[in-house]
Formats: sequence, structure tokens, C-alpha cells
Amino acid sequence: MNRIPRHVSIIMDGNGRWAKARGMERLYGHKEGSESVRATIEFAAENRIEYLSLFAFSEENWNRPEDEVNGLMQLMVDAIAAETATIMKNNIKFRAIGDLSKLSEDIAKKIYNAEEMSSHNTGLNLIIFLSYAGKWDILQAAEKYSEEVLRAYQDGRTLPKLTADHFNSLLSTKGIPDPDLIIRTSGEQRISNYLLWQSAYSEFYFPEVLWPDFRKTHFQQALDIFAQRERRFGKTGDQLNNS
Ligand code: FPP
Repeated sequence: MNRIPRHVSIIMDGNGRWAKARGMERLYGHKEGSESVRATIEFAAENRIEYLSLFAFSEENWNRPEDEVNGLMQLMVDAIAAETATIMKNNIKFRAIGDLSKLSEDIAKKIYNAEEMSSHNTGLNLIIFLSYAGKWDILQAAEKYSEEVLRAYQDGRTLPKLTADHFNSLLSTKGIPDPDLIIRTSGEQRISNYLLWQSAYSEFYFPEVLWPDFRKTHFQQALDIFAQRERRFGKTGDQLNNS
């Protein structure tokens, strides 16, 4: 049985509270949070995790004060620029997923360049969910499917019954294995419109630590807890032992 999760996904939460506790602006918490991002990526690469995804900005986050949104965007662009060399040196394949049409042209271009440049890398797959929401993803997949139905109708073809596999291929996460482990920091125990479809069989872990304090030891602890869990995917323990 493979005890190292193939795909770890993290909801990075608690930056605002971390800053507030120090009498600082929320953006200060996000800045410190970028350090945790760095340590987390390093840990994932060192431990041969195949996919690491980070929920960096939700569709709902656009409703935050303009200063915070702009500051966060700038932080992400700076991080991508600062880490480009590290991404290439460590053979990391970078991708951003979400409704990227909402990003400014400048930011979208920088993201696209980082994706292009690292597209042939074969090490850790690093996915940043940006302007993402689980319901948005399911809706855009449903829209794509309705176009397929319309085209089939126009051509006089009948489509086979819609399967989960086919629907999966219409999601923005096409080709990426579902997360085995989802970590949400700061003690909040919610999925908050994240990977709704893809988390059907994910294990969840909710450490109390606030994201700016999250370091390699916390990541290791999450892996240790994951290794102790028995994942049955709807089967009985006996069925699994005999398979
Ligand atoms: C949640 O904390 C965190 C975010 C909305 C942003 C996460 C972004 C970063 C860590 C910036 C760097 C990202 C990359 C990919 C380099 P919160 O503001 O909701 O905290 P609160 O719940 O305590 O208010």
C-alpha cells in the first residue's frame, strides 16, 4: 500500500489572523505566508510528492478590499518571478488553474510564461489554484458538456450515457489525479467551495497552525497522520485486505 500521498492539496488559511495577532495589516500575513509556500514546495520536492496544489486565491476572494486583492496579486507575481530559477533548477512543472480570465493581462502573461517555460519539466507538479471555485469548475464542465450535447444533436448523433470519467475530463483539473490528502490550516474545518468534485475520496487534515507558521515539520506531521489512515473507498476493510 502506498503511504505517501500522490497529490497533496493545501488550503492556506490564517494569514489575516496571524497578522492581526501582531497588530499588523493583513497583507503582512500574506507576505509571511509566501515563506511557508516556499518551504512547502521544497518539502514536497524533497519527499517525492508527485503533485502539490495550493489554494492561493478563491473566486470569492475578489470581494476583499481592493488593496488586499492588489497586494495579494503582486505577492504572487513577485513569488513567481523570484522562484522561476528555483522552479527550473528543481525540475518543477508549474500550472495555474482557475478563472484566469479575471486576472489582469500583465499577471496572466507572467503566469503563462512560467507555465510555458516549465512545461517540459518532469519533477514535482506544482498547481496554484487562482480565482478558483469548486462550483465554478463544475459549472464550466457542465457548460462544455451541454455544447457537446448540442453539437451531437445538430449532427444527428446520440451520445453515450455521461460517465464520471468523461465529466472528469471536462473539469479544469483534467489529467491531474484527485487529491489524496487535503490540509487546511488554522483549525477551520470546511471545504469552502474548493475541490468539490475532486475531493470525493480525499483524506482531510485540519492542523491548528496558522499558514504563516506552517513549516516542514507540520507537513511531515500531516504525512505521518495520512500514513495511519485506512482508506477504503467505500469497501470494507476485509475486502481491501484480500485484494
Ligand atoms: C487565507 O488567509 C490566505 C489567502 C487568501 C491567500 C494565500 C496566499 C498566499 C500565502 C500568498 C502567496 C501565494 C503564492 C502562491 C506565492 P486569510 O486571509 O483568509 O486569513 P484569515 O482567515 O485569518 O483572515
